Amino acid sequence: MPDADVSSVLVRPCPEPKFGDYQSNALMGLAKRNQLNPRELAAQVVEQLDVTDCCEPVKIAGPGFLNFRLKTNALSDALVGAAKGEHLFYRTATEPRTVVIDYSSPNVAKPMHVGHIRSTILGYTLAKAFRLLGHSVVTDNHIGDWGTQFGKLLVGWKEHLDRDALGRDALAEMERLYKLINSACEEDEIVLIHARSELVKLQSGDAENLAIWDEMIELSRHQFDEIYGRLGVDFDETLGESFYNDRLKGVVDELVTQGIAEESEGAQVVFFNHHKSLKKHPAIVQKSDGAANYTTTDLATLEHRQNSWQPSEVIYVTDGRQQLHFQQLFELYNRWKPSHGMKLNHVWFGAILGEDGRPFKTRSGEIIRLSGLLNEAEQRAFDAVSAKNPDLPEEERRGIACIVGIGAIKYADLSGNRQSDYVFNWDTMLALVGNTAPYLLYAFTRIRSIFRKLGDESLTQPESFALSHAEELTLAKHLLRFGLVLELVIDECRPNYLCNYLYELAGHFASFYENCPVLQAEGDIRTQRLALCDLTGQVLNTGLETLGLETTERM
Ligand code: ARG
Repeated sequence: MPDADVSSVLVRPCPEPKFGDYQSNALMGLAKRNQLNPRELAAQVVEQLDVTDCCEPVKIAGPGFLNFRLKTNALSDALVGAAKGEHLFYRTATEPRTVVIDYSSPNVAKPMHVGHIRSTILGYTLAKAFRLLGHSVVTDNHIGDWGTQFGKLLVGWKEHLDRDALGRDALAEMERLYKLINSACEEDEIVLIHARSELVKLQSGDAENLAIWDEMIELSRHQFDEIYGRLGVDFDETLGESFYNDRLKGVVDELVTQGIAEESEGAQVVFFNHHKSLKKHPAIVQKSDGAANYTTTDLATLEHRQNSWQPSEVIYVTDGRQQLHFQQLFELYNRWKPSHGMKLNHVWFGAILGEDGRPFKTRSGEIIRLSGLLNEAEQRAFDAVSAKNPDLPEEERRGIACIVGIGAIKYADLSGNRQSDYVFNWDTMLALVGNTAPYLLYAFTRIRSIFRKLGDESLTQPESFALSHAEELTLAKHLLRFGLVLELVIDECRPNYLCNYLYELAGHFASFYENCPVLQAEGDIRTQRLALCDLTGQVLNTGLETLGLETTERM
């Protein structure tokens, strides 16, 4: 079938283990499109398919499913290779791609809040997953350092700044100034005009305003970095919006000359008349006062990314409310640079809600500060560890609390479908049972404790694996799927697949460990089971690390 699209002919884990380990349902569609009998096509395919080295005879089921069951030998070979350190059940890309990932991207002079945590954690995890699979990644923190908020901030800074308060908590002070002037603007038109003129002065290069702006950026970055340090997150680049200022005018000019943007009521606007969902949503690229905006800046940013790194994909991680912005941006860029060839991907996520199902806020309705949230996570984890293990030295308990507390927040963010809203709940995320960070971290400590018991007895490498117990077989087959899951994570930008996989892995390991003695076993069986423990520990560790979680020896 020379015309068939083989990229859709997939073999995937079989949803029902009783039918096989892997399954393909692709032939039915293929048969239908070519007006063939699906079972006959399946029979022809099976006749030509040579998978005898790794599979039992392939079974045709139902209307034309192919079911594959792995030979234990093949499974054993894969485990032997992994035990020797030849692979860890995944393959790195033969054709590495370059991917730019834009995440976190908070706004200067505004405190980072829980909404920013999702972007930071998701983006960083995606970067790790791409890198694990051998791709090259450029991470860029597109800080909002050039918005209209600076007009109001400048007025506040010049007239009401409290230097002591600034020294104690710079973002809180800047937030106070912003709110103060913002409400003054609502009451008094004069203040608004004043704020606008400060902004114009800043944008036209006034030295005093630029110096204040610089200081605000410095102070904000300092606090952002503190949070990034605690989350263990970093960036290759931090090119804020202001980095693109000099290019904005040129972008608008090009769009106008190419006939993409047109004048409408003094502004430069792009209409998407032939686009079905954007028809009603024209994009402004230059306001009537001549100022460029978020869209213009993002066009210049994307151009810069294309020119600097020639990526095959650019990923933006923000909340779902920016969907329209990115649809417009991508469509606009396609028109502006029709042959760019990059995959433009808006990876959006839902909101974090409080117990009451409303946006997560403090009791008095303020947004929740990230730093306070991280403190509370660590404190709660510390109390839990202290209750369970009062004899560990305090310093060790603090260390564990940091790993578990921060890990719990991250894992809660990563383990759900990112597009669903999720309810922030301390008890759920810190629970020792269920799909949580503490459960997985604890599973890891159990594996580590097996090896502590071994003392300095060295591990022997098995020459093969008998896998004669059902639990061993299930665990081994699950280990083998690690690579498939990682690929799915980067294809769909969904780290929750990895969370689910690790949760299941921990479950399979628990039943293996319950039913198959390890340290009490003898000879080859003991060697093989120890190797299974070790491989599970390695996969768990690599998986958790990809999710940005640190592990601990004890909990
Ligand atoms: N600063 C923006 C915000 O907080 C997010 C920026 C996302 N990245 C981008 N290239 N537009 O809403």
